[in-house]
Amino acid sequence: MNILKTVAVFILISVTPQTIAHDQGDTIEQAISYRQSAFRMIAWHFKPMGGMVKGKVDWNLAHFQGHANAVAALARLPINGFIPDSDFGDTHAKSIIWEEADDFAEKMQAFVDQASNLQEIAQNGDRDQISDQFIQTARTCKSCHKKYREKN
Ligand code: HEC
Repeated sequence: MNILKTVAVFILISVTPQTIAHDQGDTIEQAISYRQSAFRMIAWHFKPMGGMVKGKVDWNLAHFQGHANAVAALARLPINGFIPDSDFGDTHAKSIIWEEADDFAEKMQAFVDQASNLQEIAQNGDRDQISDQFIQTARTCKSCHKKYREKN
């Protein structure tokens, strides 16, 4: 019994720290994968709207509205994946995100707000207004990427 107990305690002591470190690593990888997936879903819906605004794809209001609804909903997700210490690994997120967390959060909120304006304006069907609002929204992507995303 005593030997078994000793062995069990030894296993606990020797295994636990590694297990914790491993779990943290997993969580960070999952957070990175979460935010990248969210951005990919956003881009999936954002690009076709850009195509319509630029006249590369035929204008289709119903399609545009569907994409605008999706982006407005998805815009709230990526921030959840920017957890502390997730600036290392397979990521293009720059470390200054965590140094300037308030500014980063503001830029994310600006995107959420513009995406929700786009969803609303898409309902009125006015192509010029929708196109203007699409450009406003696209600016919020660019202004954040410029400061906080590494180039590939
Ligand atoms: C507040 C900042 C911010 C905003 C707003 C933002 N992004 Fe990003 N985006 C990032 C960061 C940071 C990354 C890098 C994430 C990583 O690699 O961990 C990224 C990554 C991406 C990626 C690459 C995902 C991958 O495959 O790894 C795409 C695509 C993307 N963003 C599209 C967009 C689009 C489209 C918009 C606007 C409609 C947008 N983003 C708005 C910060 C932002």
